[in-house]
Amino acid sequence: KGQAAAQGLHIVITAGPTREPLDPVRYLSNHSSGKMGFALAAAAAELGAKVSLISGPVSLPTPAGVTRIEVETALQMHEASQQLAGECDIFIGCAAVADYRAETAAEHKIKKREGEETLTLRLIKNPDIIAAVADRRDAAGGRPFVVGFAAETRDLEAYARDKLERKRLDMIVANDVSTAGLGFGADDNAALLMWRDGQGEGGESLPPQPKLELARAVLRQALSRLAEHPVH
Ligand code: C5P
Repeated sequence: KGQAAAQGLHIVITAGPTREPLDPVRYLSNHSSGKMGFALAAAAAELGAKVSLISGPVSLPTPAGVTRIEVETALQMHEASQQLAGECDIFIGCAAVADYRAETAAEHKIKKREGEETLTLRLIKNPDIIAAVADRRDAAGGRPFVVGFAAETRDLEAYARDKLERKRLDMIVANDVSTAGLGFGADDNAALLMWRDGQGEGGESLPPQPKLELARAVLRQALSRLAEHPVH
């Protein structure tokens, strides 16, 4: 078992931040390091899966055996995700997608204006990439097993459960990012896994551990849910 647990499966993972241009030299982004998504990709490849890693701009090496698709913006990540969603068994949305982008990126560098102390940027909402994957149906009525992440600073369980239902996910990995040394940018993470399937609802609490260990535990649970309930 173990080694070949994901043999024959295609797992798609989004990772890292997205970068939303304001003009040719500036952008909106966030501090996501991509470490958790890259750990998931490494763990999935170890288990024998075919792995596609759709990554925003991060400075991490591509794990062995993983196909990396580099994107910058949320719209590019959305397009790559839609392209691969139809041909994968598990889709894991680990990316910290910018919720908004500039309505129009300026063609030329935005200049400081003499005598004007404020500048107004108009932003518009980006698509929800993982919710769009969860809403897909192929000709046979199927779609991949969809795993989302929820980073919260309070009411972890309630917010994560709401996200699980609202985005129609199969499983969610909820992190408390208010704990020092865990989550964003850190090497360790703790999580609460929650899922919904034909058997009802379930959960598993994963204590603080290196992100690669946590990634293995997340995949173990996703694979066992998928085996018990192959059609979503
Ligand atoms: O709503 P929130 O951003 O907290 O949800 C987090 C989950 O949704 C993560 O799995 C993240 O990758 C995904 N997400 C997405 N597209 C967005 C926003 C979030 O796929 N535009």
